[in-house]
Amino acid sequence: MASTTYVITIDGPAGVGKTTLARRLAETLDISYLDTGAMFRTLALKLGLAAESMTEEAIAKACAEYHFHLKGHGERTQLFVNERLVGSEIRTEEVGMLASRLARLAPLRKALAEMQRKLAETQPLVVEGRDMGTVIFPHARFKFFLDASPEIRALRRMRDAENHDQPTDLARLTEQIRQRDVQDRTRAIAPLKAADDAICIDTSDLDISQVLGLMLRHIDASGGTARCR
Ligand code: DC
Repeated sequence: MASTTYVITIDGPAGVGKTTLARRLAETLDISYLDTGAMFRTLALKLGLAAESMTEEAIAKACAEYHFHLKGHGERTQLFVNERLVGSEIRTEEVGMLASRLARLAPLRKALAEMQRKLAETQPLVVEGRDMGTVIFPHARFKFFLDASPEIRALRRMRDAENHDQPTDLARLTEQIRQRDVQDRTRAIAPLKAADDAICIDTSDLDISQVLGLMLRHIDASGGTARCR
């Protein structure tokens, strides 16, 4: 089996800023990033809630129809499914919730785990998700775990949505984030938790640049930058 090249993992709950940080960190290190939540969201949209009543074999067969690949580096990294760019259709809170429900299905996780590891065999990556440091890449070069209260994460999501002219109800968003936290943290397989050797960062009082600065300082202090491309 081919081994992974160079992986930095970022795990954490919904809305904590993982994707933005993965993108910024990848840009700084001039490598690509992999948003594994986008993979779960894509398959959730393709399979739908019906997957919950499918047999394990049927889920595995359905997942095998989809192949992901990456193009580009840094902030310009793009994720493709079956040669089509994964677009903004996956970015609603409803799709996030559906992805979180289907993420409990073992054959779906197994199919995605194989694809995630395969992508890391051919290129150095910043990978972000829920189980990157614990299950998928236990030997990653660096592991980060980000957290913040549900209220703060919902507030950030709301400001983000408003910046895109999509007014959002804060109470509803906070409730959705709480529900997703429970689902992601308590599922039997690969629940969201920090790896024992992860650097944990509470981002509640920090902006993106400050969190990025902490990550880079840690990587630099460990002599990590030189190991990238
Ligand atoms: O990071 P996100 O919000 O786009 O992820 C959507 C859902 O996908 C998340 O609530 C749980 C699931 N997920 C997962 O179980 N494991 C991952 N590595 C990434 C996402």
